[in-house]
Amino acid sequence: MSNMIEVKDLVLVYSNGTKAVDTVSFNVKKGEFFGFLGPNGAGKSTTIKVLTTLLKKTSGSAQIAGYDLDKDSNEIRKLIGVQTQETAIDGDLTGRENLMLQGHFQQLSGSQLKDRVDELFKLVDLEKFSDKNVRNYSGGMKKRLDLATALVHKPQLLFLYEPTTGLDPQSRSAIWNYLEKLNKEDKTTIFLTTQYMEEADKLCNALAIIDTGKIVAAGTPRELKEQVGLDSIKLDLKDCDKDKASAIKVLKELGGVSNISETGGCLTAFAKNASLIIADIVRSFDSLGIVLSGVSFSPPSLDDVYLQKTGKRIRTEALVKTPNLMRFGRRRR
Ligand SMILES: Nc1ncnc2c1ncn2[C@@H]1O[C@H](COP(=O)(O)OP(=O)(O)O)[C@@H](O)[C@H]1O
Ligand SMILES: [Mg+2]
Repeated sequence: MSNMIEVKDLVLVYSNGTKAVDTVSFNVKKGEFFGFLGPNGAGKSTTIKVLTTLLKKTSGSAQIAGYDLDKDSNEIRKLIGVQTQETAIDGDLTGRENLMLQGHFQQLSGSQLKDRVDELFKLVDLEKFSDKNVRNYSGGMKKRLDLATALVHKPQLLFLYEPTTGLDPQSRSAIWNYLEKLNKEDKTTIFLTTQYMEEADKLCNALAIIDTGKIVAAGTPRELKEQVGLDSIKLDLKDCDKDKASAIKVLKELGGVSNISETGGCLTAFAKNASLIIADIVRSFDSLGIVLSGVSFSPPSLDDVYLQKTGKRIRTEALVKTPNLMRFGRRRR
């Protein structure tokens, strides 16, 4: 069994008729850091709720570590950890009391629990604050404690609901560090939902992009970006007026370069494998006495992938949810 999650033709229709998950299939391998990427409303949370046994699927099948979602939900609950969408921690308790409480829910006790709690405070860098009231924690500290809470029972599989949405860049990169550590050192399989392309690109070794309930692309970040195909190559000419025409001629003659455009003192061209073609460009320029003051290239981004698959750009800035809206949304459900 090398798959931790196997999902086939999963459908979830809410009672009001909204088809939030529409015939979704994917696998997550053991030990993988899997990213479920999509804009607000795409169906990420709904998928997590189904896989963590909080919502009953409409149709399709799913297995977690070989256990059937319908028949073996108790077994599944024991082996997964879920970092909740809204913070599950109690502000009237200290960080330590919160973790101990969670441990008791998971039937841990005594020195085993105490040691685990110490270990977790270390992992999320909250040792100094462990005996402080959670009320006084910052947003980033609460998210870190939340993460620790989901890890008390050493889950094999961790589900994360947009763990860095709304956090400042520093807290975000701290969370990234803990997650990478958890995945690499503890071999925890991670299922991460996120609206941030950059986050998925940095952390995940496999991805699925979901849009309005359907998976529109899946693969490693590299595979997805290669599907988009073209890297952009920026060439700064030392003497643009003199060399531009012959530089363009050279580029046109090289196989594999397309869409050459001029901007100020430089040319931009697109090519399938920029890193391979750049040496040829430099050599040809050199032999004609065309002097470059700079060369750079950038691969396609996951933004380009999403754009190509859906015709839209993900705009995360405007989508950061406020706590009030989240609470309102939940009450309505
Ligand atoms: N309880 C619910 N009842 C009806 N529709 C819902 C409910 N929860 C979510 N939805 C709808 O299902 C779709 C997917 O939502 P969700 O899974 O929360 O997406 P995401 O987590 O990607 O933002 C959205 O159109 C959302 O409005
Ligand atoms: Mg969500």
